[in-house]
Amino acid sequence: MARLQAEHLYKVFGRRPNEAVRKLEGGAGRDELRADGTTAAVIDASFEVEEGQIFVVMGLSGSGKSTLLRMLNGLLEPTSGRVLVDGEDLTALSPRELRSVRSKKISMVFQHFALFPHRSVLENAAYGLEVQGVPAEERRERAQQALELAGLKGWESSWPDELSGGMQQRVGLARALATDADLLLMDESFSALDPLIRRDMQDQLIELQKRLKKTIVFITHDLNEAMRLGDRIAVMRDGQIVQIGTAEDILVTPANDYVASFIQDVDRSRVLTAGSIMEEPGSAPAAESGDEPRTDQELLDAAPATVSADTPIAELFTPCAGSGAAVAVTDADGDLIGLVARESLLAALAEQPQTANGDGPKRDSGDEGKVVARA
Ligand SMILES: Nc1ncnc2c1ncn2[C@@H]1O[C@H](COP(=O)(O)OP(=O)(O)OP(=O)(O)O)[C@@H](O)[C@H]1O
Ligand SMILES: [Mg+2]
Repeated sequence: MARLQAEHLYKVFGRRPNEAVRKLEGGAGRDELRADGTTAAVIDASFEVEEGQIFVVMGLSGSGKSTLLRMLNGLLEPTSGRVLVDGEDLTALSPRELRSVRSKKISMVFQHFALFPHRSVLENAAYGLEVQGVPAEERRERAQQALELAGLKGWESSWPDELSGGMQQRVGLARALATDADLLLMDESFSALDPLIRRDMQDQLIELQKRLKKTIVFITHDLNEAMRLGDRIAVMRDGQIVQIGTAEDILVTPANDYVASFIQDVDRSRVLTAGSIMEEPGSAPAAESGDEPRTDQELLDAAPATVSADTPIAELFTPCAGSGAAVAVTDADGDLIGLVARESLLAALAEQPQTANGDGPKRDSGDEGKVVARA
């Protein structure tokens, strides 16, 4: 069973929201409703998040990400649809039951969360536990551990204003980790940080996740961040989820022109893997010299490098550049499962993805100037 499920979630702000949902179900658009003075913030969102996954919701400002997240932890009641945590329907709980589920299972890290200025870093990290009524001694211990996990060991007795923005953000993360809730909801948690610190926090989250195996919903408007962090990514536009898939799915088969236009700025070499672009050993050209087909062992011997299928292709440039032979891709047993030749590497980088409906992403009608040539 999925840890978290969203089923046909709608959130409409304004007058007569239920009527608005019926209109949306009947095919009305967001703009049509806006004319009535209502805002359809989230429209028919459904997805599942498995235990231990990082599920990223990506979309531009106003696309409905925060509204969706607030429904997931019961802060906001859906106009229609259900949220299930471990199979339990949040929307059917009494306010008291809901508070209990929320404090035990779910914790949230906000983009602009406030640290208490007159409390130490330790007390700030312990705040969630205080709300839960955990005794002081245990609070200290757990907050201490959480700060260590977040890379803030030694800062326990400092004041918030002695910390940089990135470190303050870590206190927010520590606060969420201290509660032991294993469902973490993170709303643009790193967006306010400088690019380098932000990358650092992403790395740290990936590291933490390897150890703690939380179930995380992470919101961002940055596709590169989404692709670095997300086991799966939902792309939102105007209240609707327009695609759900792995980073590679989205890069290779964008659902529509909108998604395709997004992925233009993505560093493909860090998302695409050797496994996704390799060719079967039998089908690859034997060698530049056009020799007879060779055995797996010969191909392995000739290869300038041997990598696993999940290696980002960014790591294949150096070996490919120095050799005419293809890089060998092997499985866990060391058996050859594929080859990446230099041509395939370059082609993968240059390729313009085809959208799922078969249209190229940049062939907007009447806009010939924007057509991007295929490599
Ligand atoms: N309480 C509210 N009352 C009325 N409209 C709201 C309310 N909260 C959000 N909205 C509207 O719902 C839409 C989605 O807002 P939301 O905050 O969920 O977007 P977002 O994707 O989180 O944007 P951002 O990236 O700027 O944080 C927006 O049009 C917003 O104005
Ligand atoms: Mg938001």
